[in-house]
Amino acid sequence: MQAGWLSLLRRGGNLLRHSARLVPPSARAGTTTARARPRALSTVPALYFPAFFNTTIFDDNFKSPQKWCSQLSKRNKSTSVNPDLIRPRPELASTSQGHNTLKVLWRDGEADEFPYVWLRDNCQCHACFHTSASSRLLRVANLSMDVRPREVQVSNDGYFLTVVWENGHESTYETEWLNERAFNPRQQSIYNNKYRLRPELWDSDMSQRIPRASFDELMEDDAAVLNLLESMEVLGFTVVSGARPEEGELQRLSDRASHLVASNYGTTFIVKDKKDASNVAYTSEGLDLHCDLVCLHYKPCVQLLHCITQFSGDGGDSILADSHRVAVQMRELHPQKYRLLTDVLVNFRDVGVDNGFQYDIIARRPMISVKANGEIKTVNMSTFGRDSHFGISPKEAIGWYDAYLTFCDLLYRPENHFTFKLVPGEILIMDNLRILHGRTAYEDTVEGERRLEGGFWDWDMMRSRRRGLQKRLGRGVGGQDGCRI
Ligand code: OGA
Ligand code: ZN
Ligand code: ZN
Repeated sequence: MQAGWLSLLRRGGNLLRHSARLVPPSARAGTTTARARPRALSTVPALYFPAFFNTTIFDDNFKSPQKWCSQLSKRNKSTSVNPDLIRPRPELASTSQGHNTLKVLWRDGEADEFPYVWLRDNCQCHACFHTSASSRLLRVANLSMDVRPREVQVSNDGYFLTVVWENGHESTYETEWLNERAFNPRQQSIYNNKYRLRPELWDSDMSQRIPRASFDELMEDDAAVLNLLESMEVLGFTVVSGARPEEGELQRLSDRASHLVASNYGTTFIVKDKKDASNVAYTSEGLDLHCDLVCLHYKPCVQLLHCITQFSGDGGDSILADSHRVAVQMRELHPQKYRLLTDVLVNFRDVGVDNGFQYDIIARRPMISVKANGEIKTVNMSTFGRDSHFGISPKEAIGWYDAYLTFCDLLYRPENHFTFKLVPGEILIMDNLRILHGRTAYEDTVEGERRLEGGFWDWDMMRSRRRGLQKRLGRGVGGQDGCRI
């Protein structure tokens, strides 16, 4: 029974596939101006992993966004650890020496293969690995492609593997440690889920289920912070409510979840209608859907906007769109135009003075950045941040504009964006690499009536915090303690 169970767990069998049923996509919202309905964030992303287990490579999902949206919508919503994931310690049965690899047989009947060079590189002895630094010490000079074992032994209980190398160096590995690092798709998938949570692309229906969190809970409860960070990775945005309507709340929130990243506008900045505005956001004009600071090669990862006061009349609403979803649509519907947007380099520029700091920042990048495997990395879109210099021929420019405007047509389709209005005390947090945001125009009749404080976070720090909290709160993959890194 145990062997069969372990086999299923290690290979991603049906035991963990129960949550991956497909559901038809829900009906689309007919309006673009739905008002947000509060929804407790704690009911949004709790333990995602079971639903993720049946796919191993992220890009598979990008080929079929509806499939994985529906998979995610079916994910386990419990905040407790799924007992299915608490696994027994894996036991090794035997090994055999291949030419380049050590083949191991587990007591559950499964087999794995470890390259000798990898085993030697990852020796865990004190000479080769620094425990408190969690880092390899073994120098490259001591690693060679033809390293081979002289002797291999499995302990009687199956919990340890010892390799004595030809030069006499001895390496002992805990089999649990080895199993976590096995090269099979199942283990790779578990590590992929630790690396990044799979995004759930959304359409305007999202206006009906805006992910929300409470500022006070975030201040006190680590589980709330973890929910927020998980939600940010999956859905790409969150509205936090209950912050005091005054400056400084972004710093308090950042101390709990990440840290603020400075830009040419400072560590935090005030968004309001300003005289001699250094940025179009500092006017009462409407803003097209955009991401912030496209002029920076290290474009900020995540943007925060804390509504301190809001315009009381019509206007000043926020608009949100999931640009990755639209980019996938573009790739499917207009592949040639999509290629222009991924290939043609565009100049983005920010020139000016803010708070006495003078800048002229230029970044050259395509409008849609893709990873080597074709996944969408980020959409670089900003009407006011895009430069007028264009390093292509007039004919090519006309082709590019045609592709760009086709993309905008898709983006502004009612099903691809929605509008809502922040109220004082709410903090909108958005993945600046994925979610495009905009604003409807307002009239600044009372000077400075509408006032937001803005700032940026960094994905590396957010994911780092997410992994740490998952481990501490027992919400990682692989059981109560999660995987060891
Ligand atoms: C910004 C911005 C939106 C708003 O400051 O980058 O887009 O609602 N502001 O004022
Ligand atoms: Zn060693
Ligand atoms: Zn903006």
